[in-house]
Amino acid sequence: MKEVTYNGLTFVPYIEKEKIDARIRELAEQIKADCNGTRPLLLCVLNGAFPFASDLFRALDIDAEISFIRMKSYEGTSSTGVVSEVLGLTEDISGRTVVVIEDIIDTGNTIARLVKLLEEKQPANLKVATLLFKPDALRCDVRPDYVGFQIPTKFIIGFGLDIDGLARNLSDIYILKDEN
Ligand code: IMP
Ligand code: MG
Repeated sequence: MKEVTYNGLTFVPYIEKEKIDARIRELAEQIKADCNGTRPLLLCVLNGAFPFASDLFRALDIDAEISFIRMKSYEGTSSTGVVSEVLGLTEDISGRTVVVIEDIIDTGNTIARLVKLLEEKQPANLKVATLLFKPDALRCDVRPDYVGFQIPTKFIIGFGLDIDGLARNLSDIYILKDEN
């Protein structure tokens, strides 16, 4: 692995694919154990979580379903601030075990809004799995149930994570080089 450059910024290797694969297999085992015979519905949050969701889903050797959602956020009236909506959820999740699959939790705003909207639909059990978590950046009262890697508050790319739409197809995860 070597350095990569996007938008004039240099990134250095941070987490290798082999390490990501091994960690995803561990998370799948944890989820399997926690699902306890229920048939979970995985909800992959597009776009960034799709490589993680794909690997996690295949590592999960129990009956499970997967679906793909997207968050839409816009400014509401001044009294409501940012309003969010879940797009693409066609399944009835009431009474089900649902595992939300995210790529990264940074401030936690996105996942906090999503969890609130999904809770309204009354799943039996709602869990959050994120490949990456920046605990020092967290500004919301959310705690992911399954975390691949805790990382410092720095910008990373690869394995689904983008910089202006690029770099999602890198197999490994890269971190912004300090001298940028
Ligand atoms: P939030 O701050 O937890 O709401 O994160 C919102 C979104 O910001 C994530 O779903 C990612 O799309 C993006 N994001 C946060 N940190 C990074 C990063 O280090 N690299 C690439 N995207 C990021
Ligand atoms: Mg994202």
